[in-house]
Amino acid sequence: MKNSREINPRDSNSESPWQSVVSPDAAFAQVTDAFDVIIVGAGITGLTTGLLLQKAGKKCLILEAGKVGFGTTGGTSAHLNTFFDATYPEIEHDFSVQAARQVADSGKDAMGIITALVKEYGIDCDLEYKDAYLFSENETETDQLLEILEASRRAGIDVSEANHNDLPVPFERSLRFTQQGQFQPLKYINGLLAAFRQLGGAILENSFVTEHKELDNGMEVLAGERTFRAAHLVYATHIPPGITAFSFRCAPYRSYVLGLRLKDGNYPTGLAYDMQEPYHYFRTHVVEGEQILILGGEDHKTGHDDPEQAFANLEKYAREYYQVESVVYRWSSQYYIPVDGLPYIGRLAASGGNIYIATGFNGNGMMYGTLSGKILTDQILGIENLYGNLYTPSRLKPVAGFSEFVKENADVAWRFVADRFGAEELDKLSELQKGEGKVAEFKGEKLAVYKDQQGKVTALHPVCSHAGCIVNFNAAEQSWDCPCHGGRFDISGKVMCGPPRNDLSQIDL
Ligand code: FES
Repeated sequence: MKNSREINPRDSNSESPWQSVVSPDAAFAQVTDAFDVIIVGAGITGLTTGLLLQKAGKKCLILEAGKVGFGTTGGTSAHLNTFFDATYPEIEHDFSVQAARQVADSGKDAMGIITALVKEYGIDCDLEYKDAYLFSENETETDQLLEILEASRRAGIDVSEANHNDLPVPFERSLRFTQQGQFQPLKYINGLLAAFRQLGGAILENSFVTEHKELDNGMEVLAGERTFRAAHLVYATHIPPGITAFSFRCAPYRSYVLGLRLKDGNYPTGLAYDMQEPYHYFRTHVVEGEQILILGGEDHKTGHDDPEQAFANLEKYAREYYQVESVVYRWSSQYYIPVDGLPYIGRLAASGGNIYIATGFNGNGMMYGTLSGKILTDQILGIENLYGNLYTPSRLKPVAGFSEFVKENADVAWRFVADRFGAEELDKLSELQKGEGKVAEFKGEKLAVYKDQQGKVTALHPVCSHAGCIVNFNAAEQSWDCPCHGGRFDISGKVMCGPPRNDLSQIDL
C-alpha cells in the first residue's frame, strides 16, 4: 500500500492509482448568482457536460460536494469500450436489433468525443487504444460468447475470434474487439477542467447541494449558505438525490480492484474480461513510471457482502494465474446497474423540463459519462440528439424480475442486519476491534457504533436519511453503506455518496 502523502480525495478510504494526480484548487472561480446551467458533480459526466456547454456559449457553474474526481471517476478502472455490460444479444432481446446498433454507434461516438477533446485541448492523460479480449471458460459461456460475436457484428462492432486471450488464464474461445482504450481518468478530467475554466466556466468545490426549487423561470439551487439560479439543472451525481423513481430503477454495486506488481513482467498488452458472474477485468497501466496489472472483479451489491472477503478472493484469484510480487493498490468503487440494462440520460419529464440526469452507467461509466455530456448538451441547446429517445429517463421498459430483484435484495439486507445485530447490547461494544463498526441495540434503540484507532467509541443513528434502511459497516472503506440504494456515509456520519442528502445524526454515548 502507498504511504500517506497528498492525494486527490475520493469517496472511499482505499487509494486508487489515479489519486496521486491532485486536481488544482477549483474554489477560486468567478461565481455570480445566475447561470444558464448549474451542473452538480465534477466527475467525467459533469465536466464533459460543462465543457461542451461552455464551448457552445452557455454560462455554467459546476457545484461539487467534495473535490474534482471525488466520486466514481477517481476510482474507476478506466476501461474504454464499445461493448458494454449489457451485451448486444441482451439489448437485441430486451429492446431491438436497431437499439443494439444505436448503442454500438453511441459507444463509438463517446470514444470519438474523448479522442477529439484530448486532441483539441492537448490533454496528457495516458490515452491508449488497445485490443480487448472477451473469453469463455466453459461450454455455457462459449455459447453466450458466440451469440455475443454475432450480435456485436450485427450492431456494427469490429470483432473477430482470436487464438489467445492476452492472459495466462486458460480459455475455451476468445473474441478480439479492436480500437478499445484506456486512460488515466483524473488526468483526463483535469484536462477537461482546465479547458472549462479557460472558456470562463465557474466551479465550486466543497459545495454540497442540499435543495433545488423549480421556479417559473428556471431553477434555484441551494449549496451550503449560498443560493444560485439557472435556467437548467443537471445532476451528474450518479443517482439523483432524494427519493425518485431512479432509487428503485438502479441497484448500487461495488467493484474491487487490485494494482499488482508482477515478478516476471507478464503484463497484458490489451484489455481482457472473462465471463464469470461477476466477471474479472484486466489491463496494464504505467503508474509513476512503473507497470501495474490492474485486476478487478468480485462485485456485489453495496452494503451486502463482506468487502474484506472480496479483496481476499480477488488476491487469491490473481495469485492463481500471476507471479505476484506485491499488491501496490487495492481499492473499491461504486456503480449503478439500471433495471433494463441501459443508462438513463436526459431531461426528467416530471421536472417541468429544466432538470436533467445521467445515471445507471453499469460498469461503463467513462463511456456513458462522456456520452451523457453530449446528449445533455444537445438537449439543453435544443438540438435533437440521435440517442435521446433510446436513453431517455422517461422510458417504460420493465424487464421481468429485475425490479423484484432490487426490492427483494433491499429487504434481504434489512433482515440480515436486523437479525444479526438485533439482540446485541451496548456492553458488548468493548468487543469491537479498533477500526470496526457494528449496528447494535441499546435500550431498544439501534445504534451504528464505531471504535476508532485510538479506541474511542462513537455512535450514529443508523437509519439512512434517504428512505430509512439500516446502514451496514464497510470495514475496507471505513464507511457506513446503505444496502438499499447505495447511500454512503463516512465515520462521522457525513454523506459521501448520494442519494441521501442528510448526514446520519450523531448520538452522544
Ligand atoms: Fe436509500 Fe439508504 S440510500 S435508504
